[in-house]
Amino acid sequence: MPANSHDEQMGAYTEAVKSGLYAKQSGLTGKYDNVRRYWEDETTRANLRPYLHNLIKHQRYRMERLHILDLGCGSADGYELLKGVRQQDPSLQQVEIDLISAEVLGRYKGIDLNEDLLDQARGIYGNNPKMIFEQGDFCTGLELSKEENYDLYFTSFGTCSHHNDDETFVEMMAKIAENTLNYSIVTCDWLGRWSYEWQSLWTNDLDEFKNMDYVVSYIYEKEERERRRDELQHLTLRLMSRGEAEKLIQKASQRAGIEITPLRWFDRSIFTGRHMDTGDYNHYAQPMRRAVNSLHESGLRTDFDSLVIDYMPKQEFDFLNDYFNRVQMCWNRLVNYTAGLVRCYDPSKRSYTGAVPDIPASYPRPLRKMMEHIRLVVENVGWMESGLPRENIIEPQLGYSLRNLVSSLQDGQGCAHGLVGIFKIDKT
Ligand SMILES: C[S@@+](CC[C@H](N)C(=O)[O-])C[C@H]1O[C@@H](n2cnc3c(N)ncnc32)[C@H](O)[C@@H]1O
Repeated sequence: MPANSHDEQMGAYTEAVKSGLYAKQSGLTGKYDNVRRYWEDETTRANLRPYLHNLIKHQRYRMERLHILDLGCGSADGYELLKGVRQQDPSLQQVEIDLISAEVLGRYKGIDLNEDLLDQARGIYGNNPKMIFEQGDFCTGLELSKEENYDLYFTSFGTCSHHNDDETFVEMMAKIAENTLNYSIVTCDWLGRWSYEWQSLWTNDLDEFKNMDYVVSYIYEKEERERRRDELQHLTLRLMSRGEAEKLIQKASQRAGIEITPLRWFDRSIFTGRHMDTGDYNHYAQPMRRAVNSLHESGLRTDFDSLVIDYMPKQEFDFLNDYFNRVQMCWNRLVNYTAGLVRCYDPSKRSYTGAVPDIPASYPRPLRKMMEHIRLVVENVGWMESGLPRENIIEPQLGYSLRNLVSSLQDGQGCAHGLVGIFKIDKT
C-alpha cells in the first residue's frame, strides 16, 4: 500500500536509520577501517596462504575436510579472514578463487569468553550447520575431547596477548599438540613488544615488564577521546618479542613431548598500528594510520606530506633505532618519489614535463621494485579524464606499495603492532 501521510513517509526513513544500514560507510575510522581490511587482513592472509594451501592438499589426499578451531573468535572475524584467503595468483578468468571452498570446510568452531560476542557471531552464522560457537576459556584449560580434533588452530588480532601469565599459554599450546591427530597448523597472534606506537614501554628488562595497560582509546576522535578519558576501557595485554615466544613454544613442546615447529614469523602494521593515531604511549607518534586510511578511501585526495615519517630514536635501543630508521627511509623515499612523479606528470600531454625522479641502483631491491611499480601506475592512468585517477588508482596503489615494502623489510621480531607465529605439529 502506498504511504500517504507525511508521518508515514518519514517513518520509512526513521526505520532505515534504526536498522544501521542507512549509515554512512567510511574506511577512515572504526574497527574495519581501510588499514584493517587492505593491510592487516591481507598481510595475515598472504603469510598464511602457503601453509593453508599445503594443509588443504594434505586433507584432500586423506579424503578429509578441514576442521578449524578459532580461539577467542569474538564475532567470528577470524572466519571471515580465513574465508578471504585466495589461491596464489589466480587468472583473471577464474571465478572460484577461495582456498577454503564450501567443499573443503568440514567444521568451524569458535570459542570465546564473551557471550555478547558469541551471540553476535551466532546472529551472523547461526544458520550454517558447519559453524558452532561455544563459551570457553583458553586461559583456564582448553576443553578438547579425544574425538574433537582440528587441523587448524587459529587466533587473530592479538588474542594470544590475553595470556597474561605465560604458564597458561604454554599449557594451551601443549594441549593443542596433544590433541592433534596427525598434522595441524597453529597460528599465534600477539601484540608486538617493540612497536613504535608504544615506544615509551620499551624496556631492557623483559622479565620485569611483560603486560601493558592497553587503553581502547582509538575508537574515538581526538576531542571525544579526551572528554571520555576516565570512562575508557582498559585491557591487560602481554607484549611479545620473537625471542620470548620461541622460548614459550619450546617449553610447550617439552611439556607435551611433541615437536611444535615454527614455520613463519611476521610483524604486522609497523608504522600503522591503531595507537599511532592516539599518541597515548609515544608523544612522537604521527597519525599514520589515518593517512594510510585516506590513501585507500575512494574519491578522497590525500596530502602526501601527511605520509612522511619522522622517526624519533630512543636512547639505549640502537638495534631498534637502526631498524626503524631503515624502514622510515625506504617508506619516505617511496612517498616522495610518488609525489615527485605526480608533480611532473602532465595529463594533457600524457607524459612528464621536466625531470623524472630517478631510482638509484643503490636503493634496497624491495624499494626499487615498488618505485618501478608506482612509476608504471602513474604513466598508465595519470592521463585518464574520468574516475579520479589520482584518488582512486594512484593513491590506493601507493598504499599497496607501502604495504608490500614494509612486508619485505619486516623480520618477525615483534617490531610492529602485531607479531604472528605460524607453527606445525606433524605426527605423521
Ligand atoms: C583481540 S580480540 C580478537 C577477536 C577476533 N578473533 C578478531 O580477530 O577480531 C580477542 C578476543 O579474545 C577473547 N578472549 C579474551 N580472553 C579470553 C579467554 N581467556 N578465553 C577465551 N576467549 C578470550 C575476547 O573476548 C575477544 O573476543
